[in-house]
Amino acid sequence: MTKQTTWSQRFESALHPAIARFNASINFDIELIEYDLTGSIAHAKMLAHVGIISPEEGEQLVVGLEQIRSEYRQGKFTPGIDAEDVHFAVERRLTEIVGDVGKKLHTARSRNDQVGTDTRLYLRDQISQIRTHLRECQLVLLNLAQDNVETLIPGYTHLQRAQPLSLAHHLLAYFEMLERDWVRLGQIQERVNISPLGCGALAGTTFPIDRHYSANLLDFASVYSNSLDGVSDRDFAIEFLSAASLIMVHLSRLSEEIILWASQEFSFVTLKDSCATGSSIMPQKKNPDVPELVRGKTGRVFGHLQALLVLMKGLPLAYNKDLQEDKEALFDSVRTVKGCLEAITILLREGLEFRTQRLAQAVNEDFSNATDVADYLAAKGVPFREAYNLVGKIVRTCLMAGKLLKDLTLQDWQELHPAIEEDIYQAITPTQVVAARNSYGGTGFEQVRQALENARAKIIAE
Ligand code: ARG
Repeated sequence: MTKQTTWSQRFESALHPAIARFNASINFDIELIEYDLTGSIAHAKMLAHVGIISPEEGEQLVVGLEQIRSEYRQGKFTPGIDAEDVHFAVERRLTEIVGDVGKKLHTARSRNDQVGTDTRLYLRDQISQIRTHLRECQLVLLNLAQDNVETLIPGYTHLQRAQPLSLAHHLLAYFEMLERDWVRLGQIQERVNISPLGCGALAGTTFPIDRHYSANLLDFASVYSNSLDGVSDRDFAIEFLSAASLIMVHLSRLSEEIILWASQEFSFVTLKDSCATGSSIMPQKKNPDVPELVRGKTGRVFGHLQALLVLMKGLPLAYNKDLQEDKEALFDSVRTVKGCLEAITILLREGLEFRTQRLAQAVNEDFSNATDVADYLAAKGVPFREAYNLVGKIVRTCLMAGKLLKDLTLQDWQELHPAIEEDIYQAITPTQVVAARNSYGGTGFEQVRQALENARAKIIAE
């Protein structure tokens, strides 16, 4: 075994190769490289600013770090397992490029505050990207809703037909969920945006550093005020994973509905060829793979949240190598959420066709207007519970006779209750049933039009 060079002369022999592989994070933390370079540049400038290194040395470090950035972007910087992690890889390459001055970069810094800085810069950026994806998805939902204010769709509770809805109202429910996700991520981003740089290994540093100076260069809003907390806090990552999990919950529920709607049993939507897949054996099949995959990928994000919670719960202060495990959880969650948002957005924009004829027929062939008969009677002074019981009875009679409420004669109605008049027929048409639910936040067309306007204003407001 050759003597490895990473550690100080305290070490006499190199790591066992299998242990080196086990210990290394370079295979995945290379994802942090651009943030690592940005963080190191700020650190180098701070060192020069306070006079720990000379201005020329600071300049050399910055130039060297920028060179690594361009090498990386050109695919020329591909450190191997021997570098252990992205931080060592960068420092080693820097020293190759600029010579001994490269060895000064790590003055007044530890990999502990460094990796904390990188992870926050990464997450701050990724949160902005995810919020943009959320907005795109919301816009597509909004446009789809705009086109379908008067399209009716059965509304369900317990997956049993309940009351008909404006399709726009149904779609806008998802808009609202994603709106909360967007707001939530913005709030979390504020707690991501705190600089741990300068916390050192755990206790701060003997050098006269200026933590606010480097934090400013990196656009952090503030700095951690306790060095132990700064290097070992991963609350922000857990908060992000919990917000990511909620996004996935919302996408998964929408996916489940699309899968149901596309089934022959519902037949509410047709999947366009660009967003559906076939079967390798059953030539007639057209499968909703996209929403199924979104639903399926939801579990892994929940898993990452759980993993990080468990990872943190027993850790003594301050840094422990366990924390290296936060990265794959974050990276995979970010990739999953972005990928799912993108796929669902495409599916909603161009992959679905609502079968409006079939929807119109669906809302006409059930008892989802029964509440409206009870409301009709209650409006005429019959106590609601009494009206409810009467309508229950007539629904049962209809079911036995194979009729719907609209098939009853005026005489049938008046036998049920003398207060019922000719206008009952109008009151129980699906369109009237929807239009009449004009309470604030309800599915009535007037409410839905107002909701659409409010939704559009929210999106344009930023
Ligand atoms: N690769 C490490 C991580 O991701 C960097 C920090 C290592 N610090 C240490 N004291 N070993 O956590």
